[in-house]
Amino acid sequence: MDNQTAGWTTRDIPDQSGRTALITGGNSGLGYQAVLQLARKGARVLLAARDRARGTAALERLAAEAPAGNAELAQLDLATSPASSASAPRYWTAARVWTC
Ligand SMILES: NC(=O)c1ccc[n+]([C@@H]2O[C@H](COP(=O)([O-])OP(=O)(O)OC[C@H]3O[C@@H](n4cnc5c(N)ncnc54)[C@H](OP(=O)(O)O)[C@@H]3O)[C@@H](O)[C@H]2O)c1
Repeated sequence: MDNQTAGWTTRDIPDQSGRTALITGGNSGLGYQAVLQLARKGARVLLAARDRARGTAALERLAAEAPAGNAELAQLDLATSPASSASAPRYWTAARVWTC
């Protein structure tokens, strides 16, 4: 770890107001943590999940953990072509996409 990343915490994330982030796997694990932190910093978050029930449960958790957050569910199964999902294209064009 170099000096630029040593000691980094989520408090170091700058304001994300005006940005839209689409987070795949957003209903659990690392994806949910990314959703949570970006929502707390003011981003509009598209919480992508393949299962509507798990996605809805994650949105409910987010509402409790980041009450001021601006998030919505994007139902996406990445095992299928984006073109095969009627709602997918608007998500791709709305968001900045990070991968890890
Ligand atoms: N670069 C690194 O250093 C690093 C370190 C750790 C992890 N990772 C990677 O980061 C990712 C997340 O890790 P994690 O520990 O948070 O895993 P996790 O808890 O298993 O979460 C995986 C997420 O991906 C979703 N998913 C799986 N298949 C999908 C599909 N076909 N379409 C849409 N969503 C799908 C799952 O949804 P369901 O709930 O519906 O199954 C779940 O929300 C993994 O790919 C892991 O390999 C990278």
